[in-house]
Amino acid sequence: MAITITFLQQLPLAATRVTRRQQSFYLAIAGDTPAATVQNMCGIVGYVGRAQATPILLDGLRRLEYRGYDSAGLAVVQRGRLETRKCAGRIAALAKLVRKEPVSGSLGVSHTRWATHGKVNDQNAHPHFDASGKLALVHNGVIENYQALKEELIRDGDTNFRSETDTEVLAHLIGKLYDDSCASTVDAPGKKARLFDAVRTALRQVIGTYGIALVHADVPDFMIGARRGSPLVLGVGKGENFLASDVSAIVAYTRDAVYLNDFDVVAAGTDKFEITSLAGDSTEHPVSKVEFTAEDVRKGDFPHYMLKEIFEQPNTVRDAMRGRLNHEECTARLGGLNMVAPQLRDVGRIVLTGCGTALHAGRVGEYLIERLANIPTEVDYASEFRHRNTPMTSETLVFAISQSGETADTLGALRESRRKGFRTLGICNNVASTIARESDGGVYMHAGPEIGVAATKSFTSQLVILTLLGLLFGRMRNLSAAEGSRVIEALEALPQQVEAVLDLNDQIKAIAKKYANANGFLFFGRQFNYPIALEGALKMKEITYLFAEGHPSAELKHGIIALIRSDLPSVFIAPDDSVFSKNLNNIEQVKARKGPIIALTSGNCAKHLKEIANEIVVLPEALDYVMPILTAVPLQLLAYHLAAQLGRDVDKPRNLAKSVTVE
Ligand code: G6P
Repeated sequence: MAITITFLQQLPLAATRVTRRQQSFYLAIAGDTPAATVQNMCGIVGYVGRAQATPILLDGLRRLEYRGYDSAGLAVVQRGRLETRKCAGRIAALAKLVRKEPVSGSLGVSHTRWATHGKVNDQNAHPHFDASGKLALVHNGVIENYQALKEELIRDGDTNFRSETDTEVLAHLIGKLYDDSCASTVDAPGKKARLFDAVRTALRQVIGTYGIALVHADVPDFMIGARRGSPLVLGVGKGENFLASDVSAIVAYTRDAVYLNDFDVVAAGTDKFEITSLAGDSTEHPVSKVEFTAEDVRKGDFPHYMLKEIFEQPNTVRDAMRGRLNHEECTARLGGLNMVAPQLRDVGRIVLTGCGTALHAGRVGEYLIERLANIPTEVDYASEFRHRNTPMTSETLVFAISQSGETADTLGALRESRRKGFRTLGICNNVASTIARESDGGVYMHAGPEIGVAATKSFTSQLVILTLLGLLFGRMRNLSAAEGSRVIEALEALPQQVEAVLDLNDQIKAIAKKYANANGFLFFGRQFNYPIALEGALKMKEITYLFAEGHPSAELKHGIIALIRSDLPSVFIAPDDSVFSKNLNNIEQVKARKGPIIALTSGNCAKHLKEIANEIVVLPEALDYVMPILTAVPLQLLAYHLAAQLGRDVDKPRNLAKSVTVE
């Protein structure tokens, strides 16, 4: 059942003409199981201007589609009343609903919901409404004290709740505060001011996180947004303004953006906007130019964003080091760290933290920094690090690694680390992200927008940056100029070498086809390539839904060997390096137990594998520091082709979100 709701502006809800279909909506909600809905990287798009809002709202939602969602909805003020369409399922279903029952108007909000608990159904889809039905609100985040707020509203006589969601409670609270303040006749500007006030007063009572956008049928050219913990950006247009949870939703309409900070509340009309604190004090924000264009977020000739992004890597790897190599002094130039030489020299310990793929990059970073700079380095899941009382010394430097710069656990780790007084830097792709803004400095990846949920190009960019960090710290310590220069040469050779790896695409596609019926995959590697085994397994899990595990090769004999069987291929990352012969032993152990072997190798080592491995992929030779960048790419391709072969939704794998903004 999809939902169409029409709220009449002039009448209280009880007196509105409610169609039978609408009635069944209310009844369905009344009987719904109580459950607070938790929003996980949902999408928000809002519009105020002179154009038709609906196509812009739908288009914006489509641009956020890759982030993952399970339902979608919009509300537009049409001739002084709210028109709503919402349904569980894809944006295509919402668009169909809109085609069947069109909505016209130049003010509206829309939302894609991604539930982590709470039912996925039409009722729980956003927008939600206040008691009068004149205010529509979309929300990302969690209102933790929604029960207490709701009880108070009920005590005050509000019996008009249509769902059990936390979002609806916030809508009711704002609506009530607004209605109470408008008890006497108020003119149009007065209504705007009172709505703005009501939002601030309500949010001051909220415990929890939110990114919100709301419209009210009383004030047809006025939209309000606010954030705490969930990203929100204002797009500044000519005669129109936008709100979005991610700038990529609106970049086709404007490249002028104001990135809101926590506790900012913005009110936007067609020609102006105002930002205040929760207390109501006006705050100044710069209007920034968005770095990328709408073109950058298109698939081009590629069937999937993921494949496009894999093939972008020769360029993104180059962009990650552009302007950062200092040939003369055989070191790296990373001015964004905001640290002078003596401070860099004083660093006695490094902690690398992140989630998912970013964490795996950190694991490579641990090997890199220890080898190149001889600084004790530790890697920890952001979610663990932030709750752990790990002993830290004053010379500890913390890096939060995050493509999106919005991952809640990583942001939590950054804030915890800063709270304890440690210098905390970011390695981010999204320039305007919260992590980028809240860290003491950092390094941008410059990889361009990454749309595929499974991270690919951001990973190799992170590896380049971690190599640069190792080089920089190393050259301030014991790394010789000659060794520094070898690292630079190895980095500079990478774009072409990645190109050469991509030329192996057909071979990898054929391997994927051959093993499409496999029951899962094991990945093994040593040293710099052990984290690549983890990342190869993660890619495989994320988009093929097959069982996959990554391990250090030597761990095979400590348990994993019991899993070996003929329908479970083992992927060995065994380039020509100091541990090749050790890897070879492990490969033999699998071979002896009739496990199929797919080997990634390089140089002369291929000949040793001829009689043993079922498949051999020969990669260009490179220094072991940078080899992970070359070994990661074929594993991305392997997962991609397998997923495509299995008919999976490659860019939007089930249950995953591009960036997870709840803990
Ligand atoms: C989610 C994504 C992963 C990603 C992780 C960290 O779990 O599904 O692909 O690696 O978040 O994202 P970040 O934006 O912080 O790098």
